[in-house]
Amino acid sequence: MRDAQIGTALLRWYDREARVLPWRIGPAERAAGMVPAPYRVWLSEIMLQQTTVAAVNAYFERFTRRWPTVTALASADDAAVMAEWAGLGYYARARNLLACARAVVGRFGGRFPQDRAALLSLPGIGPYTAAAIAAIAFDAPETVVDGNVERVVARLDDIHAPLPGSKPQLTALAARLTPRQRPGDHAQAMMDLGATICTPRQPRCAACPLRPHCRANDAGTAALLPRKTARPAKPVRHGYAYVARRKDGAWLLETRPPQGLLGGMLGFPVSDWSDAPTPAPPLAADWREVGAQARHTFTHFHLRLTILTADLPQAAQPERGAFVAAADFDASALPTLMRKVHALAAPGLRGD
Ligand code: ADE
Repeated sequence: MRDAQIGTALLRWYDREARVLPWRIGPAERAAGMVPAPYRVWLSEIMLQQTTVAAVNAYFERFTRRWPTVTALASADDAAVMAEWAGLGYYARARNLLACARAVVGRFGGRFPQDRAALLSLPGIGPYTAAAIAAIAFDAPETVVDGNVERVVARLDDIHAPLPGSKPQLTALAARLTPRQRPGDHAQAMMDLGATICTPRQPRCAACPLRPHCRANDAGTAALLPRKTARPAKPVRHGYAYVARRKDGAWLLETRPPQGLLGGMLGFPVSDWSDAPTPAPPLAADWREVGAQARHTFTHFHLRLTILTADLPQAAQPERGAFVAAADFDASALPTLMRKVHALAAPGLRGD
């Protein structure tokens, strides 16, 4: 009874307040019979993993303009896709994106499969994404549980057990709320509520359509939930980055190996990243150290890169990497770490 009331109140709120998002078919259009393109739902869900709606919007627009269908994306050049993804982070997502597009074309004739099990068999699609695509694109009664949804249900039931241990319990609570009618809108409503009202800090409980049903609201504990088991502090690793320009202004860049951090991305040559990195210049040159270090945080560690720059003669023969002409160089095609390196190094190097 309470579950059904929550579902009804949530959908009523969504009908009024749904965010307008470029990949979304809103509730009114949906009621009028419009259905979302599975390609756009899939692409948005992959982009939104670990990334905010605000950061994704422009990327989504650029991707769908350049590759409007999964078939178009499947035949894209790998380097072009990696360059468009640059700045979004978690680059394994981009590699899997291409592999998935090619599998949808190769195995399913260019149409996304509808059921969860078939979706799960595709590269880069795990349980969350399979459920999200099935619910949002095909209106299947799947329960979609992301961080927003965990927060909403932890508060609704005033669950104090910490994440990640409480995940199964929170998933079961979310499953109980999933309706047979409009499960896709329900999933998106839960996400919107978590993103706009039931926010991590300072939730806007006064504006919440679920307030009459919320046990954390009754207990005054909403802002404290969900609790999380403290994570160990991230270690700091160090390394060297080498930024060099040839006499004609060309930049020395290197495509990173496909596996591992920043896999497949273009960047400046670097050393290993560790407690005591070994210098690894890509060629002998008059390397000069830049005063500031590039700092960047990855999932499991903080990185500090010491930057070395060199002006190279036209005949320079690097042992690694390749020169990219000044006219073809685009810092926005580099991952964020490498953009930071570029911004710190460029002022001390020869101009174009
Ligand atoms: N976060 C993850 N998926 C989303 C979606 N489909 N809409 C809004 N926010 C999201």
